[in-house]
Amino acid sequence: MNTQEMVEKINKLKDERNAIILAHNYQVPEIQDIADFIGDSLELARKASGIKDKDVIVFCGVDFMAEMAAILNPDKIVLVPSPAARCPMAAQLPADRLIEYKNKYPDAGVVVYVNTLAETKAEADIVCTSANAIKVVNSLPQKTVLFGPDANLARWVAINVPEKKIIPVPQDGGCYVHKKITLDDIEKSRREHPFAELMVHPECPPEVQDAADFVLSTGQMIEHAGQSNSKEFIVGTERDMTYRLQKLYPEKRFYPINEKRICVQMKKNTVEGIYLSLKNMENKVSVKPEIADKAKKAIERMLEIK
Ligand code: 13P
Ligand code: SF4
Repeated sequence: MNTQEMVEKINKLKDERNAIILAHNYQVPEIQDIADFIGDSLELARKASGIKDKDVIVFCGVDFMAEMAAILNPDKIVLVPSPAARCPMAAQLPADRLIEYKNKYPDAGVVVYVNTLAETKAEADIVCTSANAIKVVNSLPQKTVLFGPDANLARWVAINVPEKKIIPVPQDGGCYVHKKITLDDIEKSRREHPFAELMVHPECPPEVQDAADFVLSTGQMIEHAGQSNSKEFIVGTERDMTYRLQKLYPEKRFYPINEKRICVQMKKNTVEGIYLSLKNMENKVSVKPEIADKAKKAIERMLEIK
């Protein structure tokens, strides 16, 4: 079966199963093309929390995103095209590690990045994404805040909320894709595209954040590119973000900062995986109810922040 035939079958299955396909901005172009909704982690969480008329959600992203959709929709079936699409950063702050930090700093507020598993979210006061991390930290009454697992995002928050003490947990957590974005990448792409604005994700290293024109979540990159007078942009994040931007703004030009900055885990999802998961109703995401209930509170606290 070729891709086009598979897409036709997916569309039929979607009707039969009453399903919706959600996809993250880093999904391969073929998946972006068939998704019903594409977004960053926050937009996907908001979308997932408001789905009323569907029975099945096919989530094309990584483990923590699909888990969040399942937590927010205990009465629906959440499927993933590939159970191997697991964000390595989400495993960097297991719940028992966070509990150790909480015992060491009993008076601190506890913010966990959305890129964590449900057990860890269940131990947090509140969840954040890269789009709302500053607002979330500002919303807490505590002066000292445990923040993890991304140390680069923690640093970005610390710069923007100087009146609070941000303690990164662990000290060196982070995303292998964004950690590989370097000043050499910036220098080369700025040389090739001297009139382009440089947008980078806050998971990038400090020196890259400092050298960029804008530090933005993937959803904020979309918003910024739409509003900016600039016609060209260097995109300092996962490669396929440029596909999303280019499709939205065909009159502008988007260049990946480095074609090799690819999230291998996001790419485990395929059109065939979507087809098979819907056909066989396989790869169901489940979260233990007692964990889901606690994690849901921390996620909902985040969603209350506008
Ligand atoms: P966004 O929420 O900005 O899309 O980031 C998610 C992610 O996994 C970045 O690597
Ligand atoms: Fe995880 Fe990084 Fe991939 Fe995002 S890009 S899903 S943080 S490994």
